[in-house]
Amino acid sequence: MSMAPQDFFPALAPWVAGLDDTFPGAWIKPYFAQWEVLHILSIALLGGASILLNLRLIGHGLTEESPAEVERNVRPWLNLGVVGVIVSGLLIGSSNAERLYTSEAFTAKMLGLAAAIVLTYGVAMPAARRDGLLGGAGKLWAVVGLALFGLGLAVFGTAKLVSPGLWHVILAAALIAAFVTRGALRIVYLLGLGVLVIVQTAATHVMIPADDFARLDPVNKAFALAFTAWILGMAGVQVATSARDDAAGPAAKALAYAAILVWVMTAAAGRWIAFA
Ligand code: HEM
Repeated sequence: MSMAPQDFFPALAPWVAGLDDTFPGAWIKPYFAQWEVLHILSIALLGGASILLNLRLIGHGLTEESPAEVERNVRPWLNLGVVGVIVSGLLIGSSNAERLYTSEAFTAKMLGLAAAIVLTYGVAMPAARRDGLLGGAGKLWAVVGLALFGLGLAVFGTAKLVSPGLWHVILAAALIAAFVTRGALRIVYLLGLGVLVIVQTAATHVMIPADDFARLDPVNKAFALAFTAWILGMAGVQVATSARDDAAGPAAKALAYAAILVWVMTAAAGRWIAFA
């Protein structure tokens, strides 16, 4: 079953088809590449701000400042990045609207964007302002944000020709866990990752011929699940055992992981619009 915007909103087809002939789409079209640079710079800005904020909640990075101070300092940059990515996205989108309208990756991206806004503005920022404490509203927004995130992942993971893009999200989770684990846990974690990489490479390059897609696809999917389980399992151990230096408890820390990864998923789905 296709899950592109055209499948949910078929009546919009004539409007979408005319968008690149009218303002602002027609005006943006000749300068698509320049506006896309603004899109990518905004992503870098919001991504960096989100990473600093959420790593602080996890208990890493700018630990000399309290989470509330980090939140105050990154807030303008985060806001600028979010406004920049949405405005530039709408402009380049209006000049190439049919591509988005027919793209399942774009559906995953919009679900990701909604989840990212909820998990950032409804959960991570208010929790950081209270030095890690999740309030009642924060818990409610967490449920909404995680549900949207799950829906986005489901669309991304099942969309035709797009699902390999989820490896970006798995890699980002692997890097965060490598950064925040410490001591013996980090060694065990990296060894486990190394074993998975070697076994997957052997299975998909030696045991199964590299062009036998019928057999490779299920094996690669199984490895995606194995990597995810290993990385989330080890991140879970880190979250559960890390010092409760700030008020941030395991739930706030786990949500901080999600608040970074949801932006990665949104960006990955954005990139994979081009591949479908
Ligand atoms: C209203 C919101 C947005 C709209 C309408 C939008 C629209 C677009 C469009 C039209 C493209 C070009 C697709 C193509 O022709 O291949 C694109 C690319 C992209 N978008 Fe967005 N976008 C939005 C928000 C975001 C957000 C929030 C992120 C990341 C957090 C993001 C990340 C990306 C990335 C990484 C690319 C690929 C750039 C490249 O490699 O060429 N977008 N987006």
